[in-house]
Amino acid sequence: MTELHIIEQQALEKINQSSSLAQLEEARVEYLGKSSKLMNLMKTLGSMEPEQRKTFGAEINIIKNKLQEIVDTKKAAFELQIINAKLMSEKIDVTLPSRSSPQGKIHPVSQVIDEVTAIFGTMGFSVAEGPEIEDDYHNFNALNIPKNHPARQNHDTFYLPNEGGNTMLLRTHTSPVQIRSMKLGKPPFRIISPGRVYRCDWDITHTPMFHQLEGLLIDKDIHMGHLKGCIMEFLQKFFAIDDLPVRFRSNFFPFTEPSAEVDISCSRTQGELKIGGGEDWLEIMGCGMVHPKVLRNVGIDPDVYQGFAFGMGLERLAMLKYGISDLRNFFEGDARWMEHYGFSSFDIPSLVGGLAR
Ligand code: PHE
Repeated sequence: MTELHIIEQQALEKINQSSSLAQLEEARVEYLGKSSKLMNLMKTLGSMEPEQRKTFGAEINIIKNKLQEIVDTKKAAFELQIINAKLMSEKIDVTLPSRSSPQGKIHPVSQVIDEVTAIFGTMGFSVAEGPEIEDDYHNFNALNIPKNHPARQNHDTFYLPNEGGNTMLLRTHTSPVQIRSMKLGKPPFRIISPGRVYRCDWDITHTPMFHQLEGLLIDKDIHMGHLKGCIMEFLQKFFAIDDLPVRFRSNFFPFTEPSAEVDISCSRTQGELKIGGGEDWLEIMGCGMVHPKVLRNVGIDPDVYQGFAFGMGLERLAMLKYGISDLRNFFEGDARWMEHYGFSSFDIPSLVGGLAR
C-alpha cells in the first residue's frame, strides 16, 4: 500500500471512531489540517515531474475531498443530535400551572380611591388635583377661614418657610382644590379630588398624613336636596347597602352654609361594629352648601350659581368597610399587613363588577 493509502485508512478509521464533535474536529485537524500528513504530501508535489505531479496530485485531491465530505456529513449529524437533545431537555409543558411568585397588593387607600371614583364617575364627577404644598390663601383665606380659626393654629398645621411673601403650608384638607378648580374653569362644576393632607397629630385614629376626598358641585338651582341625594346615593353604593340609613346633623364649617356632618347607622354588639341598621350612628363626612363668600372669592355670582361641597377621610372609609382597626398600620409598610388587607391588582372596582372582593 502506498503512503497515501495508509494515511487514508488511518484517517477514515479515526473519523469513523470519533463519537463527538470535539473528537471529529481533532481528527479533521490531524488528517486535513495545515500540518497534516496529507498536506505535507501535497507540498512534495512541487518537486515532482509534471506527469507524476498530475496523477499524484489528482489522487491526493480525491482522497482529501472524500475525507472532507465524510467529516462534513458526520459533523452535520452530530449537530442535529445536539439540537434534538436540547429540544428534548428544554421542552416546555404549557399546561403546567404557573409558579406562585410573590405578587404585589393594592393598598386599601388606593382601592378605596378607585371605588369612590367609580361611584362618583357614574354621577358625572371628574377628578381634579391640587398641590400638597399650599399657601394660606387657598387653604384658609379663600375658604372663609378667618385668621383666628382653630384650624389655623400651629399645632394643627405644618407651616413651611414663606415664599414670595406668601405663608406656605402642607394642606390640612383637600378643600383648597375647590378654590383652584373654580378659579381655573367656568361653572357648572362637578369634581371630586382625592389626595394626601397633613395635620400635626399622632394616635390610634390620627396620623400626620392621611387622605381625604373632596367633592364639589356648582350649577344653577342647586339646593340641599341635591346634596342629600348625592351623598346618600354614594354611601349606599360604597357600603353596598341599598337602604342604609343616613343622618345629616347640623354643624359648622366656615366655607359652607348651612353645614352638616353626615352619619351612617350602625350597631355595636360586644364591641363588633356593623354598618347599616342599628341604634348607633357613625360620623363619616362633612358637607354643606358652598358659602356665598367662597363663591364671590372665586368670581362666581352666588345669585346665579349655587352648589354643595363635601369632604371625607379615605382611611376611615377603608377602615369601616374592610374592618381595619388601627389607622397607623396604613403607613407602616408592613408586608404582612398588606398581604392581609391589600387587594388583587386584577380586581378593578366598578359598579358593574362589584366594588369589593
Ligand atoms: N374640609 C373639611 C375638613 O377637612 C371637610 C369638608 C369639606 C366639609 C367640604 C364641608 C365641605 O374637615
